[in-house]
Amino acid sequence: MASEPGEPETALMIEENKGCSGPMVVPAEESQQVSGGGVVEREARAVVLTGFGALSKLRVMKRSVPAPRRGEVLLCVKACGMNFLDLMVRQGNMENPPRTPIVPGFECSGLVEMLGEGVENFQVGEGVMAVMCYGAWAELACVPVENVFPLPPGMSFTDGAAFPVSFLTAYLLLFDIGRLREGMSVLVHSAGGGVGQAVAQLCATVPGVTLFGTASSSKHEAIRGSLLHLIDRNADYVTEVKKISPEGVDIVLDCLCGEHTAKGLSLLKPMGTCILYGSSNMVTGETKSFFSFAKSWWQVEKVNPLRLYEENKCLAGFQLLPLLTRPDGATRVRHTMARLTHLYIKGVIRPRIDSVWALEEVKEAMQRIHDRGNVGKILLEPEKAPIPLMASDSTDTSEACDEEGEEDESECKEREPFIH
Ligand SMILES: NC(=O)c1ccc[n+]([C@@H]2O[C@H](COP(=O)([O-])OP(=O)(O)OC[C@H]3O[C@@H](n4cnc5c(N)ncnc54)[C@H](OP(=O)(O)O)[C@@H]3O)[C@@H](O)[C@H]2O)c1
Repeated sequence: MASEPGEPETALMIEENKGCSGPMVVPAEESQQVSGGGVVEREARAVVLTGFGALSKLRVMKRSVPAPRRGEVLLCVKACGMNFLDLMVRQGNMENPPRTPIVPGFECSGLVEMLGEGVENFQVGEGVMAVMCYGAWAELACVPVENVFPLPPGMSFTDGAAFPVSFLTAYLLLFDIGRLREGMSVLVHSAGGGVGQAVAQLCATVPGVTLFGTASSSKHEAIRGSLLHLIDRNADYVTEVKKISPEGVDIVLDCLCGEHTAKGLSLLKPMGTCILYGSSNMVTGETKSFFSFAKSWWQVEKVNPLRLYEENKCLAGFQLLPLLTRPDGATRVRHTMARLTHLYIKGVIRPRIDSVWALEEVKEAMQRIHDRGNVGKILLEPEKAPIPLMASDSTDTSEACDEEGEEDESECKEREPFIH
């Protein structure tokens, strides 16, 4: 696909951006260890974010595939996870956004296709899952070996792609920061989503934990079994929680930000911890809203540290991705992944999958999150054929269509998801 006016040559820019690319690809049968340098031989499909903004900024393109550099592994991707953060990245709704064009995606599963120099702990053909700083939504992806994990016995590629980000986040929030122990109480927002469902499963591993969750009422039936106390996301949840637990809760997991941070702090018991780990509230439409962004920041800025001290409360923050690129953070992630894998093998935890889509259906998949429709994880599969577009849907049936009118008409038709 040709570059748009004003946009640089996509394939070249992606390679600069990703930080996991080398200039040469050697087929796996010729060499399992490459040192980089040389001619790019292969092309593979990838979802490319061509600029920040609406869903129309997402394209599926063929691009040159880099060889794995020293310490990297090239994966043949079988499935990739979609996270709320991917919406925020698309909108440019984050601090230090990456340069576009870029291949989005923070997690995937697949087979090891090729080993970079110095990689000894994986075999070509081995099944793995990975977490990474961009680049997962592609047929082939290069990942630093520290962030690649063997698929445990019995884990499918779909489970492997849905597992890392949600479960690592949930585990580190609950156990490393929140110090969850027997008999404690927890409040989680977006309880029906990827992280929310992982939080629910991990809370169930500790005896006597009382879990409160907010979610859109349309999901309540589907997730009722995983939570003790389910509250509509539009309800006055502070009052609802206090009806059951007048003292409040020990841990508040705040992925909404803005006014919810102060509400979360107000709900904390003394010695409790409120952990800010997302800012979903900033997403109010298909493109970034500077008003919502500023409002959320202003509301959080009003939190007074002196009040925390007087009230014996703790406000913490968490971001998974920066941990991946720090040696101490990557070690912590590996240890956590080992514990989570063990729980998976024992059948204690299992990712909840909402739906699986082809790369070409990325806009519809993302729209499902905008519409608050997902219960569990949304996945993309590079080998999945897109469901044919419905002939009757030649008009705008989905916000996945381009409001700037620059898409093919065929891309503006609606597809039905494959729902698990
Ligand atoms: N800090 C980290 O390292 C880290 C890692 C992973 C995730 N997170 C954060 O954790 C939260 C959940 O992430 P996830 O990937 O598991 O996503 P998710 O919960 O599956 O996201 C989709 C759900 O979020 C809820 N939601 C809240 N605000 C929304 C909005 N403005 N627009 C659309 N939906 C909204 C909706 O559920 P309801 O309508 O039912 O509320 C929606 O179905 C996000 O805030 C994400 O940024 C942070």
